[in-house]
Amino acid sequence: MTFATVEEDRPLRAVVVGAGFIGGQWAPELLAHPEVELAGWVDVEPARARAAARGLGLHDLPTGASLTALLDGEEPDFIVNCTVPQAHHEVTVTALRRGVAVLSEKPMAVTLEEARAMVRASEESRRLFMVSQNRRHMRGLAAFRRTAGELGPLGLMTSEFFMPYRGAAFLATLEHPLLQDMAIHLFDAARAVSGADPVSVYCESFRPPWTWYPGACSATAIFEMTGGLRYTFTGSWSAPGLPTSWTGSWRVAGTRGTTRWDGEGDPVAEPAKGEVVRAHKREADPHPERPRRYTGLAEGLAEFVAGLRTGRAPQGECHDNIRSLAMVTAALESARTGMRTPIVIS
Ligand SMILES: NC(=O)c1ccc[n+]([C@@H]2O[C@H](COP(=O)([O-])OP(=O)(O)OC[C@H]3O[C@@H](n4cnc5c(N)ncnc54)[C@H](O)[C@@H]3O)[C@@H](O)[C@H]2O)c1
Repeated sequence: MTFATVEEDRPLRAVVVGAGFIGGQWAPELLAHPEVELAGWVDVEPARARAAARGLGLHDLPTGASLTALLDGEEPDFIVNCTVPQAHHEVTVTALRRGVAVLSEKPMAVTLEEARAMVRASEESRRLFMVSQNRRHMRGLAAFRRTAGELGPLGLMTSEFFMPYRGAAFLATLEHPLLQDMAIHLFDAARAVSGADPVSVYCESFRPPWTWYPGACSATAIFEMTGGLRYTFTGSWSAPGLPTSWTGSWRVAGTRGTTRWDGEGDPVAEPAKGEVVRAHKREADPHPERPRRYTGLAEGLAEFVAGLRTGRAPQGECHDNIRSLAMVTAALESARTGMRTPIVIS
């Protein structure tokens, strides 16, 4: 899809929407980007936006509860949607319909119907709409992706995610906390690493006897992907020991060999007999001067800004990212119906 670019030689004006945890990570990234100007901060609880701005020494930054008032008053080029998932659809469509591009936190939306309407709003307004999947920019994941790219046609891919987690109260309110909250990170990573798209899924989502969650905190899913690749995911928020990393533990097998990644360090690889496969190493940190920055936001912002300047679609552009969301919504449907579910994007 073609989308409008910003041609004028001036910084891009950005408004942050949502002043909770992740809004507080995005604002410093916008301030640090040489081609971006922070033009305002919105939150339905305006005191939060005011306090967050003051916390960064931005005493004169326009803040408020009304997104439309700030869009009309400050005329930003884009918003960064840092609201809760239930508000993503309304906030994103409001901005796009006013001709404002959107860089959104994951997940794109709660349902696939909402996501389709958001993609349509992007097409109709001809405005860039990208979802940030920050883990794509982890240096370990990038090395694993390059290594998997050496294996030839892929046949099998597995990821495990096991975490004894009690940290976020809202997880206890979800029917399927693993699938509804965490799985999008792993599913999007599976698409990034394999270059394949989902075709169908069979999924079971359940409660092991020892869990402290009221909802189905554990799941196993088998995806058929394009090219015949099978991707299996198994995970739990109630791991009774031996946790994986926050990006899981991975294995990919292709015609030329196998690579494994622990979700943190460098991947390892072993070639099939008679083949040569190189295990790629993580590249050096591009921002060693800011060791405490939140992983991947700066890289996602750089791709989004480059997109607005050149018209080149960044990773996470909505037509691509909706395929990752569809893996989640189809897995949920399969878990509820007990049936293998085809994954239909549009
Ligand atoms: N990529 C990551 O690693 C990562 C990490 C944390 C959160 N997230 C995502 O970021 C989003 C926000 O998560 P969070 O932890 O910052 O939540 P949070 O609850 O800390 O903050 C959300 C803020 O949005 C505000 N808000 C809600 N509806 C709004 C609306 N309609 N308009 C304006 N403001 C509104 C709330 O008042 C709150 O201040 C979620 O989608 C979450 O999945 C991503």
